[in-house]
Amino acid sequence: MKIQNLILSFAIAISTITVSFAQDGEQLFKTTCAACHTVGKGKLVGPDLKDVQNRHEKSWILKWVKSSQTLVKAGDAQAVKLFSDNNRIPMPDQALTDDQINSILGFIVTKSTESASAKTEATSAASASGNSSQVSVASDSPKAGNLLTIFSFTEYLLMGLLCLLLIVIWVLAKSIKSLSKQLADKISTGTN
Ligand code: HEC
Repeated sequence: MKIQNLILSFAIAISTITVSFAQDGEQLFKTTCAACHTVGKGKLVGPDLKDVQNRHEKSWILKWVKSSQTLVKAGDAQAVKLFSDNNRIPMPDQALTDDQINSILGFIVTKSTESASAKTEATSAASASGNSSQVSVASDSPKAGNLLTIFSFTEYLLMGLLCLLLIVIWVLAKSIKSLSKQLADKISTGTN
């Protein structure tokens, strides 16, 4: 009974952490970046950040987000070009930790792949609309797409990992239980 309680509280704790971790990137992006950036919806004040992970090294992005002007002033070629390509509007320094920037990047990567698959879906729907027998199939696909995008890829991954962890804990708890039983039996036969 105690072990079950332990597992339960552990599961609740982990799923809370999982959910807050997975939302963190999106939340942070919306509150700190979305005023100037979109992912896949075009340029605002700053460039569209879709696939930005392919345009720069991760370490560069970390430095850039913390202080873009430091890079510009140091004469970093990528930074100087970005700055002059964007009407020399400086991106303000963001007081974020590496972890926070990493989770924002995670959100950008997920969002970039999401909008890529949405595009494929739209194209296949458009090509199917020419053929009336395929229209019903095509109209189903956006629904499936919505269902898939309720949770992000990271969230699915973390859910999977959580299940795996629970199974491991369950197996461990069972073997500890039977071990302690064996031990108790041994002790009681020893003293008898
Ligand atoms: C006040 C507006 C503003 C905010 C807020 C802002 N940015 Fe920017 N960002 C810019 C501008 C403008 C540029 C273009 C470079 C320049 O002019 O300095 C840029 C460029 C970038 C680039 C390089 C893009 C490319 O195409 O190479 C990255 C990466 C980036 N920003 C990430 C972020 C992240 C992450 C956040 C949130 C934590 C953020 N920015 C918040 C204005 C902003």
